[in-house]
Amino acid sequence: MAQINPSILSADFARLADEAEAVRGADWLHVDVMDNHFVPNLTLGVPIVESLARATGTPLDCHLMIEQPDRWAPQYVEAGAGSVTFHVEAAAAPVRLAREIRAKGARASMALRPATPIEPYEDLLPELDMVLIMTVEPGFGGQAFLDIMLPKIRRTRQLIDKHGLDLWLQVDGGVAPATIDACAEAGADVFVAGSAVYGAADPAEAVRALRAQAEAASAEAWWSCKH
Ligand code: DX5
Ligand code: ZN
Repeated sequence: MAQINPSILSADFARLADEAEAVRGADWLHVDVMDNHFVPNLTLGVPIVESLARATGTPLDCHLMIEQPDRWAPQYVEAGAGSVTFHVEAAAAPVRLAREIRAKGARASMALRPATPIEPYEDLLPELDMVLIMTVEPGFGGQAFLDIMLPKIRRTRQLIDKHGLDLWLQVDGGVAPATIDACAEAGADVFVAGSAVYGAADPAEAVRALRAQAEAASAEAWWSCKH
């Protein structure tokens, strides 16, 4: 099943509860946490995640683009996130961190910047619930999709299959009607979309349309046929 996670980075930050409501039916709300160190942009932190978790019934998928995720990620679980993604480039002890996130009751996820390969992390995969392959340089919404990431998505799906893992594969950055088919065909099953959802006249309808498109593209894909 394809999941669509609208990114509230493209929403109106003064009206977050309404913006969450505007995408009712989405699988998760994708919350981009940026610290102006790991990425050159600053967004929001634990108190806003805490308030948003109280204000919406949609589970929160927190994408931490921050330094020292080992120190901060557990606080996002406590704030109410159902899934917490840390960047492996910033994590001091990714296995310990993934275990801590899971022990606190959330799904643990590891993100890779475009230049970070998946292969060195093969042995970590059983510790995770999701891998996020960035399809733009993290930091801003509205950037063009990097199609050179498609082979990495495919190789990641092959590793997941090789180990027989029940692990979600998320893509984030430039995901839109023109690019989602290629992501689904390559092996992604969780799709973050910011501008493609919140830039649409009807965001909830945009979520449904993207999901239908991803479902159709993955139904025929090499990786889903044998599932
Ligand atoms: C970028 C963020 C993304 C961003 C995606 O660093 O991680 O989640 O909101 O926005 P679009 O879908 O517009 O590329
Ligand atoms: Zn993100």
